[in-house]
Amino acid sequence: MSLPDVSMHQHPQVTAFFDPQSNTISYLVKDPESPACAVIDAVMQFDYASGRLSYESADEIVAMIERQGLSLEWIIETHVHADHLSGAPYIQQKLGGQIGIGEHIRDVQDTFGKVFNEGTEFERDGSQFDRLFTDGDRYRVGGLDCFALHTPGHTPACMVHVMGDAAFAGDTLFMPDGGSARADFPGGDAGQLYDSITRVLSLPEALRLYVCHDYGPGGRAIAWETTVGTQKKANIHVGGGISREDFVKMRETRDAQLAMPSLIIPSLQVNMRAGEVPRDEDGDMVLKIPVNKL
Ligand SMILES: [Fe+2]
Repeated sequence: MSLPDVSMHQHPQVTAFFDPQSNTISYLVKDPESPACAVIDAVMQFDYASGRLSYESADEIVAMIERQGLSLEWIIETHVHADHLSGAPYIQQKLGGQIGIGEHIRDVQDTFGKVFNEGTEFERDGSQFDRLFTDGDRYRVGGLDCFALHTPGHTPACMVHVMGDAAFAGDTLFMPDGGSARADFPGGDAGQLYDSITRVLSLPEALRLYVCHDYGPGGRAIAWETTVGTQKKANIHVGGGISREDFVKMRETRDAQLAMPSLIIPSLQVNMRAGEVPRDEDGDMVLKIPVNKL
C-alpha cells in the first residue's frame, strides 16, 4: 500500500537508553510542541541464573519522564523481541500510556503458543496489548504525526514507526556497518526482510533512522542514529543496490551460523504477553523451558 506522507517539518527530541546485557537501545521520543512523549522498546533486566527480574533500564526512562514533567501517551514495541524482556508493563503501571504492537502479533502468538504448549487461557488474538497497529496506521504523540509501517522478515509482526522526521527501525536494519537483522526465527524470511528494507529505504533520505540494536562491529563505540540516505549508500547488506537474490543468499548463510540469543526462551514467553510474566495456578510468576523445540 502507499504510505502516509512523512512530516519532515516536525523534529521530535529523541533520547536513547542502551542496555548492555542485550545491546538493545530503547528510546524516549518527545513531541517538540507539548509535554507528550512515547517510549519505544523498553527493557526489563532478567538474570537467568537466579530467575530474578530487575528494572534499572526502565527506571532510568521513568526518571527522565518524571524529571521533565512529560505525559506518556504510547509504549511501543517494534516487535516481539527474542533477546530481552519488555519493560512496557512496568513503565505503564508507573506512568500510564497505551502499549502498542503490530497486528501480526497474532501470528507470533500462534507460533509460540504451540512451541511453549500454552493452554487455551493464552489468548492468541493480541488482546494483551492496548493497540494493534495495521500497515500505514496513523496515530499521534501530542501533535506529532506518526505512522506504523509493517516490515516483516525478521519476525512476522515487525513494524517501523515513523514519528515526524525520525523513524525507529526495530530489527530491520542495523547501523550501516552492522547490516541487517537475522531472519531465521520461526516466521522469519530473508526475502520478506529485503522487501521490507526496500520499503524503509523508499522513505525520505533525510529521515533520521534509529536502530534497536548495535554490537559495535570492529570495536567501534556503540551507535544508534543514522539516516535513510546513509543506509541506502553504505549499508553493508543492502546498500549500493544489492539484489534480493544476493541478499537472501548472504542472510541465510550467515543466519545458519548464529547461536540463539541467550534470553530467547524467557523473552518470547513474556513479550508475546505484552511484557507480562506467565503465572502458575497459585499466581506465581513462572517460565517454561521447552527442550529441543527451538
Ligand atoms: Fe529482534
